[in-house]
Amino acid sequence: MAETDQALPPSDQLAAMNLTDTVEKHAFSDRVLIRSIVGRPDGGAGLAGQRVRAGGWVKTGREQGKGTFAFLELNDGSCPANLQVIVDAGLAVLSKLVATGTCVVVDGILKVPPEGTRQKIELRVEKVVSVGEVDPAKYPIPKTKLTLEFLRDHLHLRARTNTIAAIARIRNALAFATHSFFQEHNFLYVHTPILTTSDCEGAGEMFQVTTLISESEKLEKELIKNPPPSEVDIEAARQVVSERGEAVKQLKAAKASKSEITASVAELNKAKENLSKLEERSKLKPGIPKKDGKIDYTQDFFARQAFLTVSGQLQVETYACAVSNVYTFGPTFRAEHSHTSRHLAEFWMVEPEIAFADLQDDMNCAEAYVKYMCNWLLDKCLDDMLFMAKSYDKGCIDRLRMVASIPFVRISYTEAVELLEEAVRGGKKFENEVKWGIDLASEHERYLTEVKFQKPVIVYNYPKGIKAFYMRLNDDLKTVAAMDVLVPKVGELIGGSQREERYEVIRERILEVGLPLEPYEWYLDLRRYGTVKHCGFGLGFERMILFATGIENIRDVIPFPRYPGRADL
Ligand code: 4AD
Ligand code: MG
Repeated sequence: MAETDQALPPSDQLAAMNLTDTVEKHAFSDRVLIRSIVGRPDGGAGLAGQRVRAGGWVKTGREQGKGTFAFLELNDGSCPANLQVIVDAGLAVLSKLVATGTCVVVDGILKVPPEGTRQKIELRVEKVVSVGEVDPAKYPIPKTKLTLEFLRDHLHLRARTNTIAAIARIRNALAFATHSFFQEHNFLYVHTPILTTSDCEGAGEMFQVTTLISESEKLEKELIKNPPPSEVDIEAARQVVSERGEAVKQLKAAKASKSEITASVAELNKAKENLSKLEERSKLKPGIPKKDGKIDYTQDFFARQAFLTVSGQLQVETYACAVSNVYTFGPTFRAEHSHTSRHLAEFWMVEPEIAFADLQDDMNCAEAYVKYMCNWLLDKCLDDMLFMAKSYDKGCIDRLRMVASIPFVRISYTEAVELLEEAVRGGKKFENEVKWGIDLASEHERYLTEVKFQKPVIVYNYPKGIKAFYMRLNDDLKTVAAMDVLVPKVGELIGGSQREERYEVIRERILEVGLPLEPYEWYLDLRRYGTVKHCGFGLGFERMILFATGIENIRDVIPFPRYPGRADL
């Protein structure tokens, strides 16, 4: 992986920074952030003469001057740039410091390096405080040039690389930008459930959540260790109960003392308890519980089938229809068997929902939000974006500037299909046939946004047959008020719609797409009582990171990617 240039500091920091300030210790540790030294507009030069404690992991290290001192490039993840550290041989065993991945904490004095060096400041070490050694022969990621594919097999160590650390900072910035945008516009952040009993997209791609399997395995093991009682055991226990019953009867008839009778009754109760325990255990059967030939979910944890959510939309609508502007931002799960570079089984989605708003408002909100994120990265993450431009996608910064500044194209689905048909007539070859009614394939979406318009495109009013039941039916009765935002590099970034707020119409749509009404009764209540025009959308958070950074594979922009066959850590 390429090393970065000395980073440019984010502009807000620039403005806030007083260059004569002394560098401050981190609030919750005993060292200073490397960013607070090398991230300054002067590259740290103004801090010369100050004593600081720094800590980080060695990116590259080398012994120099015939082993009399060592240069270490130290990085603590606070910014892409490293702090150059110089350690004299008298202070430590230099060979133990220089291996890539070694963690060192050092006290030293900041000095301006000799003319002609790239660094504006370096740290002359006075004391090596601690060392977390690395055996370079064993360290799984010692080299500087490692492919992203290789790093996927080392998820627990890959954040040590420049690329994964830069993506982590960009991801963090986009999450902050998201909250900032919606909070500024008076949206309420609502936590929707991860465990759900509703299928939002109705696409049957849900991961089921059940304890039936583990319970049945537990039971199977237990029954082997401790076999269930036989009919003979139970008969014997019944015999004991009747004998004890007889004994009580006789004592009563003989007018025995109260204490004798009480003791005898206690014996009887014990025998009864034992019998019922045995009877209960004799009913235990290994395997998943069934009723009428089907799995008996009433015995499952929630007494019904449950899943991981594919979208928080339906639940967040309940809040939109009460407190007007809301958003949810959380993990979503899809058991799609797609091995593409743009699908994950677990991904994060940002889903605003706006009451008293229609499809136009929805598109306006989506466009403003995407632009806001682009500006945020340009403003606050320029150092990491420069790294991305240098290492992965030289156009990524220009793309952010372009998207932040120009209006998105808006075309109807029908117009989009016409444009695609026109392209086909002009000789363009698509793998998937183009005709009105198809779900646009990724190649179609990318043609529109990357080739035809070369900017973000919002396609709206899709055929109802290819969209979810909750989207508002248009007056043509053929299309729904849906919209997808397509962007270069990614294709579909956002999917949204105006929601069907008319009770009769949505009830009909649920039946039409073949879903049962019963599980959606609560959703129908939002239309039965105080219904309101409303809309919303979902932005795939990892796809936004792909779009921003130019990274090719979605598995590299989420810390712990989950996809068919893989769920490490
Ligand atoms: O278009 P989708 O399926 O829309 C919904 O789930 C709506 N309920 C959202 C809403 O209106 N509140 O998904 C929204 C976005 C897609 O545009 C895409 O960016 C992303 O989520 N997405 C995925 N990202 C990564 N991996 C997957 N498997 C994805 N599936 C969808
Ligand atoms: Mg979609």
